[in-house]
Amino acid sequence: MHILCVLLLLTCLVLGRSSPALSKLWEEWKMEHRKVYNNQTELSFRRAVWQKNVHLVLRHNQEAAAGKHSFTLGLNHLADMTTEEINEKLNGLRLEEPVPLRNYTLKDVSGLPMPQSVDWRKEGLVTPVQNQGLCGSCWAFSSMGALEGQMKKKTGILVPLSPQNLVDCSTADGNRGCRGGFISKAFSYVIRNRGVDSEKFYPYQQKVVTLMLVGWMNGWMIDTII
Ligand SMILES: *[C@@H]1O[C@H](CO)[C@@H](O)[C@H](O)[C@H]1NC(C)=O
Ligand SMILES: *[C@@H]1O[C@H](CO)[C@@H](O)[C@H](O)[C@H]1NC(C)=O
Repeated sequence: MHILCVLLLLTCLVLGRSSPALSKLWEEWKMEHRKVYNNQTELSFRRAVWQKNVHLVLRHNQEAAAGKHSFTLGLNHLADMTTEEINEKLNGLRLEEPVPLRNYTLKDVSGLPMPQSVDWRKEGLVTPVQNQGLCGSCWAFSSMGALEGQMKKKTGILVPLSPQNLVDCSTADGNRGCRGGFISKAFSYVIRNRGVDSEKFYPYQQKVVTLMLVGWMNGWMIDTII
């Protein structure tokens, strides 16, 4: 749908940088993603960034039509942000200090036949793609994703788990909510808490506004014991 809109605008864009069609798309995009800006300066800046991204999308899709790429692009809620801003806001994965080398026993698999590829979706070990919003919580999503798969493998049941639970409650383990976290420290929380809530009981909120309420409610929420 959006890609179609963008493709239709191509001619207008070639003719003029701020065509009425482009302005219309900008208004529609702002409304769809509930964008509100503080002042005129910010609005102008966001519009300029957005427009640059629209051009990028168009160029890419033109090239895709010519067979240069196997996928097309569209405009999502991040289209008014620069790459640097997106990395800063959304890429909250913190890397650990290197752990001291342990004496692991590695299994020799060289003699076993290895598949060319494995699609874990086909194995039913993966829950649908989610949107982390404007929160640096990728660490919580990735650790819950790994756990969901392992749970399914072990118990046969696929339960979407709650990244929000981790974002809100694992600060004591060294995570920093929307400002980033560690995958291993997410697991530390799950072990310490003897489980983690399911997504259904503790749904994801893009803005962490009800932190205190949620902490209190957590007392009587049913945990998914792993
Ligand atoms: C406009 O809003 C931005 C973002 O909130 C802020 O950084 C800036 O100082 C504001 N400018 C004026 C002139 O108020
Ligand atoms: C690792 O284990 C082996 C066999 O038990 C032992 O010989 C070796 O000294 C150990 N290495 C380290 C670094 O602890």
